[in-house]
Amino acid sequence: MYSVSVTAPVNIATLKYWGKRDSVLNLPTNSSISVTLSQDDLKTTTTVSCSDSESYSVDQLYLNGKLESLESLRSQKCLGELRKYRSEMEAKDGSLPRISEWPLRIVSVNNFPTAAGLASSAAGYAAMVYGIARLYRLPLDRSELSKIARQGSGSACRSLYGGFVAWEMGSKKDGTDSRAVQIADVGHWPGIRAAILVVSASKKEVPSTGGMQLTVGSSDLFEYRVKNVVPPRYKEMEQSIIKKNFEKFAELTMRDSNSFHAVCLDSYPPIFYMNDTSKRIVKLINELNKSQGRNVAAYTFDAGPNAVIYYEEKDEHLVLGVLNEFFGHLPGWDKKRSINYSLPDRF
Ligand code: PMV
Repeated sequence: MYSVSVTAPVNIATLKYWGKRDSVLNLPTNSSISVTLSQDDLKTTTTVSCSDSESYSVDQLYLNGKLESLESLRSQKCLGELRKYRSEMEAKDGSLPRISEWPLRIVSVNNFPTAAGLASSAAGYAAMVYGIARLYRLPLDRSELSKIARQGSGSACRSLYGGFVAWEMGSKKDGTDSRAVQIADVGHWPGIRAAILVVSASKKEVPSTGGMQLTVGSSDLFEYRVKNVVPPRYKEMEQSIIKKNFEKFAELTMRDSNSFHAVCLDSYPPIFYMNDTSKRIVKLINELNKSQGRNVAAYTFDAGPNAVIYYEEKDEHLVLGVLNEFFGHLPGWDKKRSINYSLPDRF
């Protein structure tokens, strides 16, 4: 039996991926940017093993203690590609054990609510792909692995890197240039923090793939967003990170969260991910920023009602104080979410 354990962090997009131009290869309609959270906070821990013993008769996935199906096309594509790389290595080097033929057991645990818009699939697929690549000792760099993880869940490709990460949409039909790249590691801008407000831990009503299809097929605003809004915003956000300009970064992050939820609302029938509590959080952050005469905090919401609030360490007292006063009853607020970057060994 061979076995390896890895962890993968959650990433939260500040420039959202929403829309697929190829749903089999998971190729996006726009490039996106995210921040990878600390491994000490939201993460998936995955142990991957393979064996030729009788107890390993088929590939199996246990997620948070429950046996889940690996039948989906997305999982099969990831497993298939990783196995293909391994069997090519085995064919070239006869001394390698033929483990590509053995069934795999993947045991994955999240330390946060699964499928509640907290990017659980991103961390999950990143950990699975990274874990199997380590088990198979594949000589692939993170960018190459990001292309495999992308086929499991688009946003998973960004969890292969720490710090500030871009998913370049690419232009090739086969997806070979649609991959994650690191804009900057967290050491570049260590003062950034994120607080999470768990508004609801229940499963999201509209899974992201179905939601994207609905938006692409029915929203009038969508094309405008993809063609006119995202490309210049991508460049501006990249620059705001490089220049460590929080004022700009915060504005662009909030604008893009608004824009993403606007195309969801513009879908037919409409998709609502934010609820009344989410909207109260938006109002509070706007009031806070107004009262300070500058952006001290930025909200962003994914495909669910939970809020991620980015701020700078120097404003931590103020931001967490206000969040506590108004939303202290929500779980998650009191745990500071520092963004931390960790490299291969801890991954
Ligand atoms: O990777 P998916 O299919 O779970 O989609 C993620 C979509 C958003 O979280 C809403 C945006 C993003 O870029 O992560």
